[in-house]
Amino acid sequence: MYVCLCKAVTQQQIEQSVAAGDGYAQIRQKLGVGTDCGCCGQCAKQLVREYTSKLPACEFAAAS
Ligand code: FES
Repeated sequence: MYVCLCKAVTQQQIEQSVAAGDGYAQIRQKLGVGTDCGCCGQCAKQLVREYTSKLPACEFAAAS
């Protein structure tokens, strides 16, 4: 599912970025989420929080 239509960023791309240790700011910079019309920003932040909370403790420490 697309989260950001302006930059064609999917939910899966955000999940993969979080798993790689990225926070919202890094995802915004790398993928462009929220950098055009901005209407996807809150949804993307919520997904980052959701995916971060699902990471095992050692991966969470690396993502912080
Ligand atoms: S929908 Fe993401 S910046 Fe417009």
